[in-house]
Amino acid sequence: MNKTVKFPNGTTVTALGLGTWHMGEDNTRRNAEISALRRGVELGLEVVDTAEMYENEELVGEALAGIRDKVFLVSKVLPYNADFSGTIAACERSLKKLRTDHIDLYLLHWSGRYPIEETVRAMEQLTDDGKIGMWGVSNMDVAEMEEFFSFREGRKCATDQVLYNLAHRGIEYDLMPWCDDRRMPIMAYSPILQGELLSDPVLREIADERGATPSQIALAWTMRGGNVISIPKSGSVSHVEDNIKALDIQLTENELNILDTYFPKPAGKQPLDMI
Ligand SMILES: NC(=O)c1ccc[n+]([C@@H]2O[C@H](COP(=O)([O-])OP(=O)(O)OC[C@H]3O[C@@H](n4cnc5c(N)ncnc54)[C@H](OP(=O)(O)O)[C@@H]3O)[C@@H](O)[C@H]2O)c1
Repeated sequence: MNKTVKFPNGTTVTALGLGTWHMGEDNTRRNAEISALRRGVELGLEVVDTAEMYENEELVGEALAGIRDKVFLVSKVLPYNADFSGTIAACERSLKKLRTDHIDLYLLHWSGRYPIEETVRAMEQLTDDGKIGMWGVSNMDVAEMEEFFSFREGRKCATDQVLYNLAHRGIEYDLMPWCDDRRMPIMAYSPILQGELLSDPVLREIADERGATPSQIALAWTMRGGNVISIPKSGSVSHVEDNIKALDIQLTENELNILDTYFPKPAGKQPLDMI
């Protein structure tokens, strides 16, 4: 398990993490979801991604009981809460639900109506108070990232969490090189396109030839460049155990070429895809 990603402040995390969207929505799945998260952490997956929007921070807090110190915890503030006092209050609520005294990485979920300077000021206040370790953004394209970087405190942004998978490669044209130039990791959400990629015949063929699974190939592909943290969600222990093997897969040039043929690189600027 040798794939890690480094944040600008030197913090290093395992490149594969654990998403949680839709966890907690079906009470009959709650125990399985908690077990899946705990198993992932036990196996060495550090990044756990939640958000106030997911309304599952209590479940995540419960899952992390006794193992919080092994986790790099990510949560997000909704844009309509992201004025100065709203961001502070949202973080306080999340801390309580997550049963922790700090969130390692706190993200603005997408851009909204409040001036970004105000959100950044709150993020910096939360950092100074030790309530968050670092902050970043989500669903922001190059133009918005440039806005953040146009003022000094904005440059402390630690990541951009965006949709990235074989079927959504638009960021490779501009956002990914922009982040790479600044040594800012990207967090790839929906890395297996909410399960849709798993029935793809090309992925299946590459997986079969290696004795791997389509999920492992799709995840290994997102992590291939060394600056992407991939955060598949799974509420099943067996799927978590399947996905973690992606950390051991280095795709060959031939496999990458085949994938490029069926899932072409962007030829020009594309609007940022979102789910
Ligand atoms: N910032 C944002 O705006 C944003 C947007 C979307 C997502 N996210 C984050 O990114 C995370 C991941 O994205 P996502 O949840 O949209 O989609 P995803 O991780 O691409 O796919 C999740 C789906 O794949 C299934 N799955 C996972 N591993 C599998 C395996 N090995 N074999 C078969 N099925 C498997 C899961 O089912 P099981 O649970 O049954 O395994 C689930 O239905 C989210 O949970 C969330 O934390 C962020």
